[in-house]
Amino acid sequence: MKKILVTGASGILGTTVIETLLKQVLAQEINVLSRKEEKLAAMQTKGFNTHHGDYDDIKALEKAMIGVDTVLLISAGDEGDRMQQHRNVVDAAKKAGVSCIAYTSRSLRDRTTLVNKLMFDHFDTEDYIKASGLGYTIFRNALYMDVIPLFVGKQVFDTGIFQPAGDGKVAFALRKDMGEAMANVLLNEHCENITYTFTGNASYSFYDVAAVLTELSDKEIKYTPVEIPAFEAMMLGKGLPQVMVKKIIDFNTDIKNNQEAGISNDLENKLGRQVTSLKAGLKTLFGL
Ligand SMILES: NC(=O)c1ccc[n+]([C@@H]2O[C@H](COP(=O)([O-])OP(=O)(O)OC[C@H]3O[C@@H](n4cnc5c(N)ncnc54)[C@H](OP(=O)(O)O)[C@@H]3O)[C@@H](O)[C@H]2O)c1
Repeated sequence: MKKILVTGASGILGTTVIETLLKQVLAQEINVLSRKEEKLAAMQTKGFNTHHGDYDDIKALEKAMIGVDTVLLISAGDEGDRMQQHRNVVDAAKKAGVSCIAYTSRSLRDRTTLVNKLMFDHFDTEDYIKASGLGYTIFRNALYMDVIPLFVGKQVFDTGIFQPAGDGKVAFALRKDMGEAMANVLLNEHCENITYTFTGNASYSFYDVAAVLTELSDKEIKYTPVEIPAFEAMMLGKGLPQVMVKKIIDFNTDIKNNQEAGISNDLENKLGRQVTSLKAGLKTLFGL
């Protein structure tokens, strides 16, 4: 049985990957990496090979990869130099003699017209992995359906939805579905330099999200597309920091331009079942 290192093991996606891996392999066969001591301690008691490490710490990365065949690099957050962190993981994998690196990228239409600069790291990391000579599997994940409550806010049932996303569409998929499918690929495939695009089986605008929330809640929820200056004033007025407001606007602009709208059957194929629909996903996410 191949030995897998899951980075980002304490995170939500990493946790769902591990849950699925455990259906076929023992915890003792899985290495996990995190910066969080308490999460590692809990995982150690369950039998995992735990490694404390940061993507900035090359020595720790190399140590965590000893005897490992496949590394799942879960993309870092945006608080550090993410691209350098990803390069560190790929370089360490090469040095440690790992044969396969898997990476959680993003499903986006076109890098040249992207507005959200955070997304460039994904294309650059894919390029870096391909140039490394390592075997690879790339998972181009859709925007998590799980982020819809963050976009529309908890008060959505009273206020409706206001976003500067026009009628742009997103092929939302549930993070849990993507984690499960990723684990299935890691367990059952031979790292054949394949790029999978994990999306829902339809794409949805915020008009569709509003319609589904209306159906689920029996309250009429309206989506009002707003222009960027009005949205910016609204968010700043609520006390959100400028940097956060810019981030939200950039995400919405890419949605408006249908960067996130592409659909693929890969997720359904690798799950071996239907992907979670928007209606079923929102029902769970909003507790309806
Ligand atoms: N497709 C989407 O819609 C979408 C949305 C949001 C984020 N993402 C990306 O997908 C990734 C996984 O999503 P998630 O929901 O699982 O996020 P999450 O719950 O925030 O988990 C992120 C994981 O990345 C690890 N990590 C981040 N920076 C690290 C570093 N410098 N060194 C070592 N580990 C580091 C964290 O480990 P620690 O235990 O050390 O904190 C954590 O386990 C995110 O990190 C982000 O890049 C995608």
